[in-house]
Amino acid sequence: MNNKFYVTTPIYYPSGRFHIGTAYTTVLADSIKQYHKLKEEDSYMLTGTDEHGQKIEEKAKESNKTPQEYVDEMAKMAKELWAKMEIEYDDFIRTTESRHEKVVQKIFDRFMEQGDIYKGEYEGWYCIPCETYFTETQLVDGKCPDCGREVRLMKEEAYFFNMKKYADKLLKYYEDHPDFIKPEYRKNEMINNFIKPGLEDLCVTRTSFDWGIKVLKDPKHVVYVWLDALTNYITALGYLSEDETLFKKYWPADLQIVGKDIARFHLIYWPIFLMALDLPLPKTILVHNWIMMKDGKMSKSKGNVIYPETLIERYGLDSVKYFLLRELPVSQDGIFSPESFIERYNFDLCNDLSNLVNRTVSMVNKYFDGKVPKYNGTPNEVDEQLENYALEQVEKFEQKIDNYEIANSIQEIWNLISRTNKYIDETAPWQLAKEEQKEKLESCMYHLIENIRKIAILIKPFMRNTSENILHQIGIEKNNEKNWKNLKIYDRIENVKVIEKGEPIFMRLNAEEEIEFLKNIMKK
Ligand code: MSP
Repeated sequence: MNNKFYVTTPIYYPSGRFHIGTAYTTVLADSIKQYHKLKEEDSYMLTGTDEHGQKIEEKAKESNKTPQEYVDEMAKMAKELWAKMEIEYDDFIRTTESRHEKVVQKIFDRFMEQGDIYKGEYEGWYCIPCETYFTETQLVDGKCPDCGREVRLMKEEAYFFNMKKYADKLLKYYEDHPDFIKPEYRKNEMINNFIKPGLEDLCVTRTSFDWGIKVLKDPKHVVYVWLDALTNYITALGYLSEDETLFKKYWPADLQIVGKDIARFHLIYWPIFLMALDLPLPKTILVHNWIMMKDGKMSKSKGNVIYPETLIERYGLDSVKYFLLRELPVSQDGIFSPESFIERYNFDLCNDLSNLVNRTVSMVNKYFDGKVPKYNGTPNEVDEQLENYALEQVEKFEQKIDNYEIANSIQEIWNLISRTNKYIDETAPWQLAKEEQKEKLESCMYHLIENIRKIAILIKPFMRNTSENILHQIGIEKNNEKNWKNLKIYDRIENVKVIEKGEPIFMRLNAEEEIEFLKNIMKK
């Protein structure tokens, strides 16, 4: 195996059904993992659920369950969704597992011994859903600055983590590691909004609720969720357990993906905890923006929530993944609208991709009985231009995805698809057939198949089934013809036969009907 690649998603609050926004982070992480897998790297993906805290305790009570019963059910639901979405995580951590709880207790004790954690008293404005205290000045119109809900003034004995002690070290780390935070503007936000004005020490325990990990030496306190939650990324690898093999192999993470609302916790507190543990920091933390609806955030009360299952059942998994990744540029918010979903389906997937494959397969059948002609070694000018373009696109794709610009990397694949469609118009194979220009026609078919092979490999990380389907249709069965290494070579395929009757991968949808359908499900 080559390099290793360790990627994590946030661990989700199991406090309700996951909508397409929550699923986005997981799809993104899985796709990046799949890309590294395609490159034959030893890739490892972690996801899980963040199961402690007052909100979960309250939710369980509402549904007449013990917190444990409640989270067991919700974790099962999360796993079912990921199975449906064919997410290939390597481990699923739940913060109520003893492998996690024991290590959090050890970490807490160590911070106490080192003097990083001290006992004090906390008073502040507390937002229950966000499980976060805010200072008066952080509130927006007297409400929670993160979610806009009511806050309560609360006071309690609590332990604090001395964040101030590490502030300069963190700033220096940001400066010395330009790849640590992506996109870069998030770094400036952290510096200007939180670090420069003076880092507040972080309250790391609570006495106001029970559903949490007990502080061993002072059991009326439970560890406050962020210290509990953030450490999942290392406890899952067996850090401080009897078996640290995975930890030694995979830590530090190569990529940790988080949404903008939890950027502060991951860009400030998490690195500081790691510094206090004397551990290396992740190579990159990628902060993505949100999927919004035309009328703002998705919320049940507004009646604009979309669940992934509904879309998958009607349109298939790959089109949903395609839409999420393509429509949401990581560095700004993206909008989900029924119109844009159907448009992308009909244009990008059906017109551009599916038709290209379909037309090509039927031409190879028509002109060469399904047998893909051999590469003739001396491409003419038009073919050579196409070859160069394809190779450039592969490079561009790689540059963008390596920089975690996923929507842009997919755009590069679609540029190649458009260019290949244009090549059909340029070469007019039907004309070549009529004029019996056999050599040109052979070269044309070879180049089309070869480009489609490249396209199918490039989309594999995002759309596994579609990729396999295309490769099958163009007769590429051997693994070495499907791998990343052979992507950059033009004269690879030989003795290949396309299937006799190509099947459209995506069928054009009736836009009006489908938009209506989507609008209706959003109201439910
Ligand atoms: N439990 C914490 C994370 C702890 S990580 C140590 C949490 N959970 S969450 O379930 O509320 O959110 C999980 C992720 O979903 C976050 O990254 C959040 O940004 C993301 N999203 C929630 N709604 C979203 C959209 N509408 N669009 C994109 N991502 C969204 O926070």
